[in-house]
Amino acid sequence: MCLHHSIAKDPSSLANLKQVKNTHLHLDWTISFDKKNISGHVILDLHTLEDNVDKVILDSSYLDIQRVSLNEQDLTYTISERHPCLGSALTIQLAQPIVTAGTKFQLKIDYNTTDKCTAIQFLEPEQTVGKKQPYLFSQCQAIHARAFCPCQDSPAIKLTYSASVTSPLPVIMSALKTGEVQGTNGLTTYGFEQRTSIPSYLIAIAAGNLVSREIGPRSSVWCEPEVIEQAAWEFNGTEEFIRTGEDLLTPYEWGRYDLLILPPSFPYGGMENPCLTFVTPTLLAGDRSAVDVVAHEIAHSWMGNLVTTHNWEHFWLNEGHTVFIERKITGRLHGEAERQFSAIIGWKALKESVELFGTDSPATVLKPDLSSGIDPDDYFSSVPYEKGFNLLYHIEKVVGGGDIFEPFLKSYVGKFAGQSITTEQWKDYLYEYFEKNHGQTLVDKLNTIDWNTWINGPGMPPVDPEFDTTLAKQCYDLADRWDKARDNTDLSGFTASDVESFSAGQKIVFLERLTDCAPLPHALIRKMDELYQLTKIRNADIRFRWQNLCVVTSYEPIYPEVVEFITEQGRMKFVRPLYRLLHEAKNGKQLAIDTFLKHKDFYHPIAATLIEKDIGLKQ
Ligand code: BES
Ligand code: ZN
Repeated sequence: MCLHHSIAKDPSSLANLKQVKNTHLHLDWTISFDKKNISGHVILDLHTLEDNVDKVILDSSYLDIQRVSLNEQDLTYTISERHPCLGSALTIQLAQPIVTAGTKFQLKIDYNTTDKCTAIQFLEPEQTVGKKQPYLFSQCQAIHARAFCPCQDSPAIKLTYSASVTSPLPVIMSALKTGEVQGTNGLTTYGFEQRTSIPSYLIAIAAGNLVSREIGPRSSVWCEPEVIEQAAWEFNGTEEFIRTGEDLLTPYEWGRYDLLILPPSFPYGGMENPCLTFVTPTLLAGDRSAVDVVAHEIAHSWMGNLVTTHNWEHFWLNEGHTVFIERKITGRLHGEAERQFSAIIGWKALKESVELFGTDSPATVLKPDLSSGIDPDDYFSSVPYEKGFNLLYHIEKVVGGGDIFEPFLKSYVGKFAGQSITTEQWKDYLYEYFEKNHGQTLVDKLNTIDWNTWINGPGMPPVDPEFDTTLAKQCYDLADRWDKARDNTDLSGFTASDVESFSAGQKIVFLERLTDCAPLPHALIRKMDELYQLTKIRNADIRFRWQNLCVVTSYEPIYPEVVEFITEQGRMKFVRPLYRLLHEAKNGKQLAIDTFLKHKDFYHPIAATLIEKDIGLKQ
């Protein structure tokens, strides 16, 4: 008998996915902030997919494995030599082969995490807002779950999980809380359960001096007490985003939608951990100007968390659809012009990624080839996000607009919820849906799309999206005036009022437009700052763009500001380009290296590894 349906190979996993399947995972953990580790065990509920299975191979990375057992009986196991990014295969020999496919069994693995763990960052009290208590948080996407738990670390495998975590400080996870038992010596055991099947990369944990405040009928915000007031204010529009998502797609499945504001070293803008989105504190702009990240993570509740990429080559299915839904949500709430404006910002980000990797680079392909053991972290860029968005945007246009395309997206979620799928399955269903609901004329329209170039070609998309520039035009015009004034001595035509009516987004587009021009003379930079007070702005996205513009032209007075910004928060979107540019700027190279080495421990391990590569400290 053979029970495997579509278990295609996962180039980023070492597990024997064809032979066995994990359906539930139970974690029993004790957190030690002193030892900076997690110790305990995991129980995996497995069943065989083929006859005569004699071993289970799991993914693991830098784990200290103590014991593997089946029904209390010790099993022998080996840990293979480490693959540089995929980690070490943990091969567990079964006492005797399991004869029939479909046989269920349970493995228990006792283990500890080690100080090399890439999935968890332990923070010293000084690295938190309150500075009194330590903290820990995890980040498993793409392939770091294996560093905190031996498992089948492939998004093709969907499982439920439960956990029992003992800790001196409050613990929250990407699941529903089931209980809390106070133990002796100040330790509490927290129970969790995730009843919807998820891929391993969505298992998440945080522990620290955490408090919560309700911000909606199914939402609370969690953070350190010092920022709870501000966080509750900043994110009070959360429920409106969820409802708009439900309107576009299907009812919200996960029960709760809580938000966790992490300490500043959190390496991403947001992470869609189910029931509990993680976000960077750089979203606390004080004016709700960065909440589109929350709309994005909410959109993942369907795109990614229900319909999941089969492996990391189809990652764009997660992110492209999510960006598309994110912009549908904000478009419905703030108008089509806003959606177009965000798409323009996205196009620019895509252009920057393509320029950075090179137009012919395999990393710029929508569905890249990861078969040679490429680390998905190394290919992380705006490509899956924005090329993916643009493909969907193009299809929407081709089929005749939102009224025709949006029902497809709803149907797509209904069709594939609970599954992990490939680009081919997505495309087959697209054709199937449009043929069934709209007939051959629409199929003919779909056939005008140059699929191969979109999906397998490198570089920018084959179609110019021609976004509406209503909101961008003023930004372009102002940037143009500065660009043309580069040789002028008289700059009296510029005044503080030029940007008075600009939204945060418009300031970003203005600055981005200028980074496309030749580096500006320092006199202009100085004047621009004097008039628009850009160095003082605390909104992280604007600050990033402004510093970017200054560093590109080696404007040294900005260097201390850059050092401050890249050492007070560790969001990779900001720190990686700034490190790279500083490293290339006049008198910036040594400053970049010294700054990194001095603050290395501040950064999350994933961020530290990538910055090291960015500034040439590591291959
Ligand atoms: N799922 C991603 C973050 C991620 C991707 C982490 C791949 C690790 C590997 C998350 O949803 C995301 O896309 N975050 C963005 C925000 C967004 C608004 C585009 C980010 O972190 O910048
Ligand atoms: Zn995302």
